[in-house]
Amino acid sequence: MADTITITDNRTGKQYEIPVENETIRATDLRKIKVSEDDFGLMTYDPAFMNTSSVKSRITFIDGDKGILRYRGYPIEQLAENSTSFLETAYLLFYGELPTKAQLEKWRLNIKTHSLVHDNVKKIIEGFYREAHPMGVFTSALAALSTFYPEAQNIHDPEIRMQQVYRLMGQVPTIAAWVYRHSKGMPYVYPDTKLTYAENFLNMMFNTGTAEPNVNPVLEHAMTVLFILHADHEQNCSTNVMRSIGSSHANPYAAAAGAAAALSGPLHGGANEEVLKMLDEIDRLANVPDFIKNIKEGKGKLMGFGHRVYKNYDPRAKVIKKLAYDVFKVTGSNPKLDLALALEKIALEDDYFIKRKLYPNVDFYSGLIYQAMSFPTEFFTVLFAIGRTIGWLTQWHEHITDTEQKIARPRQIYIGSGERNYVPMNERK
Ligand code: CMC
Repeated sequence: MADTITITDNRTGKQYEIPVENETIRATDLRKIKVSEDDFGLMTYDPAFMNTSSVKSRITFIDGDKGILRYRGYPIEQLAENSTSFLETAYLLFYGELPTKAQLEKWRLNIKTHSLVHDNVKKIIEGFYREAHPMGVFTSALAALSTFYPEAQNIHDPEIRMQQVYRLMGQVPTIAAWVYRHSKGMPYVYPDTKLTYAENFLNMMFNTGTAEPNVNPVLEHAMTVLFILHADHEQNCSTNVMRSIGSSHANPYAAAAGAAAALSGPLHGGANEEVLKMLDEIDRLANVPDFIKNIKEGKGKLMGFGHRVYKNYDPRAKVIKKLAYDVFKVTGSNPKLDLALALEKIALEDDYFIKRKLYPNVDFYSGLIYQAMSFPTEFFTVLFAIGRTIGWLTQWHEHITDTEQKIARPRQIYIGSGERNYVPMNERK
């Protein structure tokens, strides 16, 4: 069987043979389909990239119909269950293989020794109102980092590239924690290199002056698993932004700031915050049926439900739902859990949601855990960003070392006015 398709152009009667590779045709192969010699050639129109691959990637695999997610071939459930630390999974994502003990130690050391943030970044954070949304402050701090490390612009030097990977991985939790401490008017806690990635972050967030860090191991484990679950998700909106900005050869801090800005939207990472706001609005179990009725009438969306790729239960949501019970044993249950369970039950039995294959996604239950762990609602998306930073960096690295890639630049179909002459002000109607 030939791996080609034959297209007949009914405008001209001509036939074209187009190669098929990985069940995909190259959009540029369609350009030879022309009605005349000076014709530009056939294009495809695909708003929101519904059916367009823009990269070949070896990092993350998703089968949305079956609800499968794998990092470098390893099922997400196995990594959540067995990974010894977040940095182990981060290593796997970045390098493609699980690390040996020595490799992990070196990676950990490189990241930990880059966890201190320049003191002037603190001043930048302090320039914001205490009430400022943490994602805005976090995103600004990421963008500002490029000015402290101008050499980062040299993205073609592998050693310089790696240094920025260590810096971003090391500094992101510190910046996030300092954004929180500033909002609370609390003194900053500096990174402690003796602690695990998650433990150090929780200590910088919540230490209220104890000499020794005192992070509950169940909460440390939960944070680790949540970071692992959020670490990568192939070509999602923010990753696409990271790759797109990276394709212009901007420095990785600029690209990460852009990715964080994309993540903040309520349809993407901002959904975890919206879920909690929605549960607050519903308030009581008795209000659930009316709420669902409104959604079905097109008045709003059930936040934390639905996904562009998953048409089945998001495997991350399954792990999080289970994890929630471990956390609640330590923190006490979140009263909103019953509301969330009732919403899920009704939605999963309702024709509207069944027909559209709408299931809970990663953001549906994560907020309940974050809230039980004392994170403010506005901070949830920052937590997503900490976990996702390694995914952004890995995808950025794959992109700029991929010889097939060029500056990202979509085409458009122009539907505006044809050429017309300038009209002086006094002649305009
Ligand atoms: N509640 C109610 N209806 C929905 C929802 C929802 N959450 N999601 C999709 N639909 C409906 C949508 O209205 C459409 O209906 P119809 O065919 O009658 O017009 C149909 O389902 C298909 O939806 P779509 O908008 O074409 O799907 P999409 O792939 O463009 O959007 C999504 C995916 C995640 C943006 C969307 O499902 C959504 O807005 N969900 C709520 C926000 C959310 O939870 N986002 C987090 C996503 S997972 C983590 C992440 O990526 O950050």
